[in-house]
Amino acid sequence: MHLVSDLIEKYIDQHSSAEDKVLSELSRETHLKVQMPQMLSGHIQGQFLEMFSGLIQPTRVLEIGTFTGYSAICLAKGLTDTGMLYTIDINEELQPMVEKYIGKAELTEKVKLLTGDARIIIPELKETFDLVFIDADKTNYSLYFDLIIDKVRLGGYIIADNVLWSGKVIEEKKDKDTLAIDAYNKKVQGDNRVENFILPLRDGLNIARKVK
Ligand SMILES: C[S@@+](CC[C@H](N)C(=O)[O-])C[C@H]1O[C@@H](n2cnc3c(N)ncnc32)[C@H](O)[C@@H]1O
Repeated sequence: MHLVSDLIEKYIDQHSSAEDKVLSELSRETHLKVQMPQMLSGHIQGQFLEMFSGLIQPTRVLEIGTFTGYSAICLAKGLTDTGMLYTIDINEELQPMVEKYIGKAELTEKVKLLTGDARIIIPELKETFDLVFIDADKTNYSLYFDLIIDKVRLGGYIIADNVLWSGKVIEEKKDKDTLAIDAYNKKVQGDNRVENFILPLRDGLNIARKVK
């Protein structure tokens, strides 16, 4: 199910600031050379992440699920001068491509690539984060929330991607990934340490702010 019609998508695209040149090149190379290119955040969600990050001006950002680096670049653009983004991915094959585009975006000094399983890496991180972007394997979303919540500062944000899962969250019969996403949405809503809402942008973003 497309949450927004193709024509509306096209209109949104045509009436938003043009995609940054480096990001557009990265998107093109991802679509040409990488499997499942649709995993990349893309133009409009990327603009949202960049603007959100720019608004809160984080010094520490954690991304779970780098893929080819599109959202990492968007989020890193909002960092303060001394800011750093940590981004984790289990797939080491994409690292040279990520490094190339982080370099082209002139963000090499601000982005730390961590390769491995996020379930192992997150507990090892000593930083406190202003913003966390969860965008890896759906079945572990709830675990990622549990692993990061104590590492997020009061007033900090946790954004999770794909929380409407192409609309499958409202279907009666749910597959494993859909059940995991639905469980994540229910968990976040029921946790009084955060306040949240679901933004129906692209495949849905669950935006939570730590209040306790
Ligand atoms: C949807 S893609 C990320 C897209 C990226 N954030 C963007 O917007 O361009 C999900 C990524 O999560 C990674 N991933 C899956 N399971 C993981 C795990 N257990 N630990 C770390 N990364 C994982 C995959 O290799 C994949 O590159």
